[in-house]
Amino acid sequence: MPQASGSLDRTASFFVAGHRGLVGSAIWRKLEAAGFDRLIGRSSRELDLRDRVAVSEFFAETKPRYVVLAAAKVGGILANSTYPVDFLSENLRIQVNVLDSALEHGVERLLFLGSSCIYPKLAPQPIKEEYLLTGHLEPTNDAYAIAKIAGILQIQAVRRQYGLPWISAMPTNLYGPGDNFSPQGSHVLPALIRRFDEARRGGAESVTNWGTGSPRREFLHVDDMASACLHLLENYDGPDQVNVGTGEDSTIREIAEIVADEVGYDGRIEWDSTKPDGTPRKLLDVTKLRRSGWEPTIGLRDGIASTVQWYREHVNTVRT
Ligand SMILES: NC(=O)c1ccc[n+]([C@@H]2O[C@H](COP(=O)([O-])OP(=O)(O)OC[C@H]3O[C@@H](n4cnc5c(N)ncnc54)[C@H](OP(=O)(O)O)[C@@H]3O)[C@@H](O)[C@H]2O)c1
Repeated sequence: MPQASGSLDRTASFFVAGHRGLVGSAIWRKLEAAGFDRLIGRSSRELDLRDRVAVSEFFAETKPRYVVLAAAKVGGILANSTYPVDFLSENLRIQVNVLDSALEHGVERLLFLGSSCIYPKLAPQPIKEEYLLTGHLEPTNDAYAIAKIAGILQIQAVRRQYGLPWISAMPTNLYGPGDNFSPQGSHVLPALIRRFDEARRGGAESVTNWGTGSPRREFLHVDDMASACLHLLENYDGPDQVNVGTGEDSTIREIAEIVADEVGYDGRIEWDSTKPDGTPRKLLDVTKLRRSGWEPTIGLRDGIASTVQWYREHVNTVRT
């Protein structure tokens, strides 16, 4: 019988699905540093997780004992609202294929990763885990969110029907090395880093950002996220998804000022208030995670500074 929680065996085979992505690569680094010596990773080109037969053959061949599912079709608001079929169908297929094969091959512990967009658009702040399925979703990414909610339910169903100690975690906005810096696909923080760095290099007198800068958002460094994932795998055993964040938020204006500072941009920062602001506040309640004995270690300014440095070192190879 698999143990419900406690130390993972460092010599066991461990599949990190999505190991080249922002989250998966950080988890891979964390597991390596923690002494796991049989990590398994496949790029989407080597193993398309949408392909049910290929996934089943992969599990039969590699027999992983542990799995983190950090592979997903991920995108910003524009991509999500333009291609909802792809976000729904591809994510459902990836999840169902991996979770079904993991069940068939007796994976002992598994962590499924979703995102904070699973919560209702108008959820009270900070957002507690129990607010799941209590209201309507944000329509621009509802297809993605529904796929992720289905993943949480599949984890709960496996626990109920088969008694396996599989778990789910819902991270807040993440950033760090390996992020997507493309103007179309990127989230707010990498987009700001790119914009201010380009403005600095081009000697621009001002940078204009969308909205008023007043919405509040929470950001977690992806290395902290990876450490939380290992912590949860070893210390948490329950059906409910666990929020992963810092529990603190900042205005977009504050974030932009830190980015400009760290990038070395000294021009004007302007705000185009004719453009939409989005939700005024989005902050996860992380009481449950804190109670399990974990807290973040990377402060926002330090995290942004090291991400700027990483971006500069990889500016020719980052996803654009
Ligand atoms: N980034 C955030 O701020 C954030 C916040 C909350 C939650 N999350 C969650 O964390 C998870 C990972 O996100 P991320 O930011 O790391 O995304 P990402 O950087 O875009 O990485 C996604 C990974 O998934 C793999 N993948 C996609 N489609 C695949 C397929 N058909 N077959 C095999 N592999 C496939 C990609 O593999 P290749 O590189 O080989 O193509 C890539 O490694 C997602 O579930 C997301 O919801 C992210």
